[in-house]
Amino acid sequence: MDFVYGPGKNHLFVPGPVNIPEPVIRAMNRNNEDYRSPAIPALTKTLLEDVKKIFKTTSGTPFLIPTTGTGAWESALTNTLSPGDRIVSFLIGQFSLLWIDQQQRLNFRVDVIESEWGRGADLDALASKLEADRSHTIKAVCIVHNETATGVTNDLAAVRKLLDGYRHPALVLVDGVSSICAIDFRMDEWGVDVALTGSQKALSMPTGMGIVCASPKAMEAAKTAKSVRVFFDWNDYLKFYKLGTFWPYTPSIQLLYGLRTALDLLFEEGLDNVIARHSRLGKATRLAVEAWGLKNCTQREDWFSDTVTAVVVPPYINSADVVKRAWTRYNLSLGLGLNKVAGKVFRIGHLGNLNEAFHFNPCRLSGLRLNTVGTWD
Ligand SMILES: Cc1ncc(COP(=O)(O)O)c(C=O)c1O
Repeated sequence: MDFVYGPGKNHLFVPGPVNIPEPVIRAMNRNNEDYRSPAIPALTKTLLEDVKKIFKTTSGTPFLIPTTGTGAWESALTNTLSPGDRIVSFLIGQFSLLWIDQQQRLNFRVDVIESEWGRGADLDALASKLEADRSHTIKAVCIVHNETATGVTNDLAAVRKLLDGYRHPALVLVDGVSSICAIDFRMDEWGVDVALTGSQKALSMPTGMGIVCASPKAMEAAKTAKSVRVFFDWNDYLKFYKLGTFWPYTPSIQLLYGLRTALDLLFEEGLDNVIARHSRLGKATRLAVEAWGLKNCTQREDWFSDTVTAVVVPPYINSADVVKRAWTRYNLSLGLGLNKVAGKVFRIGHLGNLNEAFHFNPCRLSGLRLNTVGTWD
């Protein structure tokens, strides 16, 4: 029998929003405060300093913006580029597609490098474009570090190596929405110019904060970038940074306290340990998928994602039915297949506030087999 809402606790295994740790929930359970009081600027100062650690940068300038990942994208693009600028962008799944759509709607000239969904960014194609671009008309390379729709992680160090190899000055703008705080990310070492994430992913907070970090080169580009920007203008933030009051508009007091606790938890565990935990959970999930006799949508091992696994179902099953059954029978939330892979894959999120015992819920199904009606025998 199906239920509208299955019995028992909900097991949230979509690849964001993710489970929020109790200490973060408690830290946010508070009244509003005057954000011009001395307390909020003092808190913000520590947040801006500490948030750099999740990007592994010492030279970056961070911005905490009331928005989601989509707004963080827009902030990265409009602050560093001008309409008509040529950019190269990789299309490997639904989120890179949506970012490209935004890039085109913001009037950039986008060279799209498309790969089959389940494959990573085509770096050979990037190499050809860089090789041909002697006059440096390409102003930026945009890449989604971890494509949440297909469970593919791209090699950012390789992108940097290519740009350096061709001595190409293009900015590197990276969507780290489903990687940062879970998958190894090194902004300074990899020469990333703008990195961004959203609070509801591996930071394990509620949705509503876009966290963007800009390299000195990106900050320089922002001085001449002509894209129209108002709400996302970094200059408005910088004015208030100088004043020591930090906020050009009203911040969410609750999210600021939530971020403080979320960062404290990550640092207490140790960022490298957090990344190692995600690597274990990713591997466990892939082993479970193998034990089910099912295939990973990700076509190559070096692209395997440690935050999300897209599982390919047999052709006689609609993956949306699997997701529906998981929800109605087990109160288990799995991710749907999106766009090109709709009906073909379901996604298991394994990021953020999770441990092996918690993760055991979807993985314990590893002893079972998916049957023809999309449930497990
Ligand atoms: C990789 C990636 N980028 C961007 C987004 C868009 O973020 P948001 O839904 O917070 O706007 C998502 C959302 O899942 C994502 O997974």
